[in-house]
Amino acid sequence: MAADIRATQAASSIHWQRFAVPYEFPVVFTEGLFDPGNPVLRDVLRRLEPAKRHRAVFFVDDGLRDGGAPVIEAIAVYAAAHADALELACPPVALPGGEKIKSDLHFVETIQQRLFDLHVDRHSFVVAVGGGAVLDAVGLVAATTHRGVRHIRVPTTVLAQNDSGVGVKNGVNLLGVKNFVGTFAPPFAVLNDYAFIESLPERDKVAGMAEAVKVALIRDAEFFGWLERRMDDLATFERSAMQHMIRRCAELHMRQIGQGGDPFETGSARPLDYGHWSAHKLESLTRHHVRHGEAVAIGMALDARYSVLAGLLAEGEELRICALLEYLGFQLWHPALSRAGADGEWTLLEGLREFREHLGGELTITLLGGIGTGIEVHEIDHARMRQAMHWLKERAGG
Ligand SMILES: NC(=O)c1ccc[n+]([C@@H]2O[C@H](COP(=O)([O-])OP(=O)(O)OC[C@H]3O[C@@H](n4cnc5c(N)ncnc54)[C@H](O)[C@@H]3O)[C@@H](O)[C@H]2O)c1
Ligand SMILES: [Zn+2]
Repeated sequence: MAADIRATQAASSIHWQRFAVPYEFPVVFTEGLFDPGNPVLRDVLRRLEPAKRHRAVFFVDDGLRDGGAPVIEAIAVYAAAHADALELACPPVALPGGEKIKSDLHFVETIQQRLFDLHVDRHSFVVAVGGGAVLDAVGLVAATTHRGVRHIRVPTTVLAQNDSGVGVKNGVNLLGVKNFVGTFAPPFAVLNDYAFIESLPERDKVAGMAEAVKVALIRDAEFFGWLERRMDDLATFERSAMQHMIRRCAELHMRQIGQGGDPFETGSARPLDYGHWSAHKLESLTRHHVRHGEAVAIGMALDARYSVLAGLLAEGEELRICALLEYLGFQLWHPALSRAGADGEWTLLEGLREFREHLGGELTITLLGGIGTGIEVHEIDHARMRQAMHWLKERAGG
């Protein structure tokens, strides 16, 4: 029987402490963020104290064009043009982009050391310009330095603009476990500039689209239809189609976080993580040679087929999903998927247990009840999942 602490009697005296902290931050889509004529950054910095000159440290992903040098230069020019509102605590600092920054604590320490040396205080700004990995690492340092420094995110990949950048999490990998150390910390602002996407390698442009397909599948059939209608444009990265895809995907993520009732994921559900239990496992099985979005595409195809086998999704819909993903440029199989342990079981299936462990509580997996409708289930039939894996493998001629 569940214990009810409210009924506790006798020697104990209970005082209920309760408060709510409202969060509010702007997510801006702009062009030419660091053009001196663009007021967005200036206005965002001065949002709470319009008359003040704000101190800021900028960290820039070195995977950006020419190691980030043009962006570093542009930030310095912007700061000079807006010297009444913005003071650079030091010239913008380049950081290694990609998963390596999250996988070696040395980088976290380097960022911390920088903030210490510069006497960054709780009213200063730490601005991260980069992919999801740089945002996650800098975000963690910003959230924990002095227990939280104002943090602005400038996402520069499709995935970071349409998904992780508008989220409220940060983190780094430790002891070989992805995102083992991290916090929930809403940023001060998120500033998206499509120009960054232009320099992104095609592989990363494709990978980020997986999250748009994901959120369409679980939340918005109309958006899924739009993705299908515009798949030619998306496959060739046509600018206006890409911009709409990113924006709509970001909006749907924001809605879930803002209105889904559990922004800090205290329950057992991970409502935005359709296709992710196997994706996380595949990423670690390939030591991140498979990109997150690439793994999610495979995970979505797998769970779509499983949804059909479980009688939740109409037969044929999984083919429609696979067709869209393949058209966008995803491959829906990877040899690491068929790796087996000593007991002959597919190693991938360990991902189910790991997925539950990350959150705690009971296993909660999102499947599809139709296109646009996510359904949460608490049990996965391993035999049926094996069947789905065989189906995917055969389809790919694997
Ligand atoms: N915090 C969250 O809520 C959340 C959600 C989803 C994913 N993530 C994390 O995000 C990370 C993946 O992020 P990602 O997909 O943005 O990839 P990434 O940050 O690993 O970047 C991929 C590569 O692109 C480079 N790059 C970045 N911007 C560029 C640009 N404009 N032009 C050219 N190169 C550029 C980077 O240097 C890197 O080499 C993972 O670590 C994942 O765990 C976090
Ligand atoms: Zn994801």
